[in-house]
Amino acid sequence: MGGGFFVTDSSHREEYEEGGVTSFVVIACIVAAMGGLLFGYDIGISGGVTSMEEFLTRFFPDMLRQMQNETGRETEYCKYDNELLTLFTSSLYLAALFASFLASSITRLFGRKVSMTLGGLAFLSGALLNGFAISLEMLIIGRLLLGVGVGFVNQAVPLYLSEMAPAKIRGALNMAFQLAITMGILAANIVNYITPNLKNGVGWRLSLGLAAVPASVLLVGSFFLPETPNSILERGNKEEAKRMLQKIRGTMEVEHEFMDLCAACESAKSVQHPWTNIAQTKYRPQLVFCTFIPFFQQLTGINVIMFYAPVLFRTIGFGNDASLISAVITGLVNVLSTLVSIYSVDKFGRRGLFLAGGIQMIVTQVAVGSIIGWKFGVNGEGSLSPVDTQILLGLICLYVAGFAWSWGPLGWLVPSEICPLEIRSAGQSLNVSVNMFFTFLIGQFFVTMLCHMKFGLFYFFAVLVLIMTIFIHFLLPETKGVPIEEMARVWKDHSFWGKYARVVDGGDTDDGDDVYVFSVKA
Ligand code: BGC
Repeated sequence: MGGGFFVTDSSHREEYEEGGVTSFVVIACIVAAMGGLLFGYDIGISGGVTSMEEFLTRFFPDMLRQMQNETGRETEYCKYDNELLTLFTSSLYLAALFASFLASSITRLFGRKVSMTLGGLAFLSGALLNGFAISLEMLIIGRLLLGVGVGFVNQAVPLYLSEMAPAKIRGALNMAFQLAITMGILAANIVNYITPNLKNGVGWRLSLGLAAVPASVLLVGSFFLPETPNSILERGNKEEAKRMLQKIRGTMEVEHEFMDLCAACESAKSVQHPWTNIAQTKYRPQLVFCTFIPFFQQLTGINVIMFYAPVLFRTIGFGNDASLISAVITGLVNVLSTLVSIYSVDKFGRRGLFLAGGIQMIVTQVAVGSIIGWKFGVNGEGSLSPVDTQILLGLICLYVAGFAWSWGPLGWLVPSEICPLEIRSAGQSLNVSVNMFFTFLIGQFFVTMLCHMKFGLFYFFAVLVLIMTIFIHFLLPETKGVPIEEMARVWKDHSFWGKYARVVDGGDTDDGDDVYVFSVKA
């Protein structure tokens, strides 16, 4: 008999007294949107900047010589293979990874507001250091500070949103955070399209420095935001927590929600070590998904496009302008397809979107790899005709759309909705840190991989997407329309997880208070 694991139905029903969407909730959304926007802006901005000549001349002159010197490099695919240059992109995510651990403690001990203020401050100083950079050190320190901002914001904002929002719009807000990320990426693509034409080489400065605008909104906004009742309660002030809940719900009738909050807080307090808690056998499905979903999300290869679209397009022979406008087009497709996902996730379900998006990505990646291999050649000796480039761009848009209606938003939604309260914050930390780590790896190694694997790189990602699609098909239960408090039953009803589940408490599986016991071995 192996170790058992329990999944308990929480009794915290989320059918509370109806409180309206108050101005507090609206302000919270705006500030939170700034967080998503900033994260997206940082994702999208570096690719365009690293393909600007003035930027390369100033900070990476060796790299520029390498690009211009036809004899110095192995093949055309290696044009941008420079570790220092990729470190400029990827260092941000390494800093974000470490900052998210720190942010998780600060968010718990000092509240969500403090974390958002610190995040806004880090973003603002990073953007200013980057915009005014006169040395490589300033540039890299600026990037690290932006990373600290990303770590704090990704930890605190989703939590803040879910605690501020009335239950009925909680899921939609979670998806809206992803929408803000895609809008940030698009804004960066548009800025990168405009700034290279500016005189006196200020283009890259403006591209990097403009992040200071949303950073200031986030910073100033964080001073005006109310703290969440959950956080006030967590730090021991029951009366004040209740007053705050009444204020943000706009009604005095908050008794049920407040009782649930207190119960959740007690149960969270009884968990001394959230990290060891999520590692217990009883949370095995959650641990598996909170680790594998962010891991696989990055292995779709999406950030090859988000970070390096202009570099990729230039490598395979697009002109400078064509590369930048192509990045705008893929950015736009990303936003629109995320909207489709938000609209359809409760109609088609999570599994349907994951599987359809996965198949779409596999087909388009194989097609992109084949066209580049066939036309551009094994060593980049060929060239692409205008028709080829249009077909390629179309295929890349289809690939981005496939991601944006599946792994993009669902990569954040699913881990958050399958975790019961007592492990939700640990689950979120795990999700963010695994995501940041693999974002760093892709950011750091993509150009080297492109140099060595050439067009085969796209086949490589296609195989990975195939594996993750099979993983979803066999292991992920459908969570569409399942209230959070009844989530436990999805494991029991599932063909794989269900083999190890048995009911030990309650009898009627629909009454919401059953306890299922799982055994690793039957
Ligand atoms: C991912 C990012 C990615 C973005 C693209 C997010 O869900 O976490 O790494 O760049 O989607 O829209």
